[in-house]
Amino acid sequence: MTDYLIAPSILSADFARLGEEVDKVLQAGADVVHFDVMDNHYVPNLTIGPMVCKALRDYGVTAPIDVHLMVKPVDSLVPQFAEAGASIITFHPEASDHIDRTLSLIKEHGCQAGLVFNPATSLSYLDYVMDKVDVILLMSVNPGFGGQSFIDNTLDKLREARQRITDSGRNIRLEIDGGVKVDNIRAIAEAGADMFVAGSAIFNQPDYKAVIDQMRSELAQ
Ligand code: DX5
Ligand code: ZN
Repeated sequence: MTDYLIAPSILSADFARLGEEVDKVLQAGADVVHFDVMDNHYVPNLTIGPMVCKALRDYGVTAPIDVHLMVKPVDSLVPQFAEAGASIITFHPEASDHIDRTLSLIKEHGCQAGLVFNPATSLSYLDYVMDKVDVILLMSVNPGFGGQSFIDNTLDKLREARQRITDSGRNIRLEIDGGVKVDNIRAIAEAGADMFVAGSAIFNQPDYKAVIDQMRSELAQ
């Protein structure tokens, strides 16, 4: 049976009570904390940086923190996030001048490394770096905001990415981010994803556990 991971995006959490929100969603059954970093340059929005990641670790969060960098340039933030307690660091290949170098940098700092693909970005960026990738993250919305609708042709792209992972023979996570809900998570899993980011679907509901339980029951079918 596939080991599915649910990774709530704290972009939709109440930032005024972030520590409590993260505790609450982990107690509700989340596996991973998805941490969206936006720089108002690579994407048209501005969020949180390494200090907030460190603050969550200092607050006592021990779950894996999945840092999704929507920033350009990328490299200077890698050591800072590693020191701040990131577990996974993913970045958009268009935002790095030297993709192989950035992947190596992340791994040298003891984190798992991944590439993120916008809806119109080709998976061919994987061609020469599959051996350095631990996570492939497909965006099913254009990055920058929570609460957008899932772009349906991402399902075909998931199947293509899953095939690449199978062909590589490596143990690589296939993560999906954007518009993931209870009513589409099963189709997304069937297309090959095994790690699910969900922001508004979880944090916009009063009972986080009810949503995560429903997601898991959809995945168990
Ligand atoms: C968008 C972010 C997502 C976002 C997902 O750029 O990368 O992680 O928070 O939010 P929902 O689940 O609401 O689409
Ligand atoms: Zn994200």
